[in-house]
Amino acid sequence: MYNFDEVIDRRGTSAIKHDKYAGRDLIPLWVADSEFRTPEPVIEALSNRVSHGLFGYTRDNESLNLSVKNWLKNEYNWEIETSWILWCSGVVPAFNQVVRGFTNTDDKVAVQTPNYPPMLKAPSLHNCHALLIPTKLVNNRWQLDDKALEFILQQPSCKVFLLCNPMNPCGSVLTEKELSRIIELCQQHDVQLCSDEIHCDLILEPGVQHIPAGKLDPNSITLMAASKTFNIAGLGCSFAIIPNSKIRKQFLDAGDGIVSHPNLLGYPATEAAFTHGKAWQTEELTYLKTNRDLIQERLSQHPEFKVVCSEATFLAWVDCTGLKVDNPFQWFIEAGLAPSPGADFGEPQFVRINFGCARSVLEQALTRIDDHLEKHRQSS
Ligand SMILES: Cc1ncc(COP(=O)(O)O)c(C=O)c1O
Repeated sequence: MYNFDEVIDRRGTSAIKHDKYAGRDLIPLWVADSEFRTPEPVIEALSNRVSHGLFGYTRDNESLNLSVKNWLKNEYNWEIETSWILWCSGVVPAFNQVVRGFTNTDDKVAVQTPNYPPMLKAPSLHNCHALLIPTKLVNNRWQLDDKALEFILQQPSCKVFLLCNPMNPCGSVLTEKELSRIIELCQQHDVQLCSDEIHCDLILEPGVQHIPAGKLDPNSITLMAASKTFNIAGLGCSFAIIPNSKIRKQFLDAGDGIVSHPNLLGYPATEAAFTHGKAWQTEELTYLKTNRDLIQERLSQHPEFKVVCSEATFLAWVDCTGLKVDNPFQWFIEAGLAPSPGADFGEPQFVRINFGCARSVLEQALTRIDDHLEKHRQSS
């Protein structure tokens, strides 16, 4: 019913993904937004708001908060109070607000690795030290190293755990057992859990269910947004769900005078997405799953690459060790593709490929990889 095959020209819109390599014959498959036109009800809600003509500071409202409440109930069977929702200008400022509000200088902050670069950076921005919890491959699925998890969360000066679930870049979704263990350890050692769940509405694998941290732990901070799923990241709008009023206050105090109001256009866009976007999202997930399977099938024909099926997100985390090159990212650039360099996430032998694009574009990218690989094999 919806046309995810449409290739939309983003030239002239200053889109970060395309602008970075403007004028070069490179298929941009890096920053995590998709190439899909946001659903029509979102565009309508934005047009209606724009036509009003006044764009002063704007706060959230009850129907917006009810749309979040209903979405979380329908998607995750999570019953929340609307008073638990705090609106933010993005998930990145929100997790930085958590580090700022729940640590003192020289404290430690646990973060998994590989990870979204701003998460790896957040501890040092607030004069804290990052304690890295590695991810390992178990039965063809990335999971947190449980020994490291236990060891790190029991460090006396570890005050915050910035969790990324679903994982960017690895694509795993924590099981109930895994999440419960993290919560247990955080409670036991008095570590504030902050869970970045920006990719949670992008579950691709049948049978996999995302569980919000706040559903199991009322003392956690859950960060979400409609931005990735509905391709509205440029609107600068996300939300934190914090059931505990004391923790809510501590979070707010940490941002007081520093963080800006969310972009007012983010509110109607989010409300429309959560209220009218379900059918569109369902088709998007089907489309993305086929894209994911296509990458998996095509790259796994080559011993140079290893890719584990992402349970969620539109991101493929590709192990390029088999290429035997110092800089796989550069290899992809020479092939005519611009993925994200794995080095930015902590793994220089990997690249991250964004497959949130029209199938024809993905097929073209995969053909470029095949062609370049052929030349690579001949020359090595
Ligand atoms: C895990 C994760 N958190 C946060 C963000 C960005 O959040 P925002 O644009 O709301 O600051 C991204 C974007 O790629 C992400 O992957």
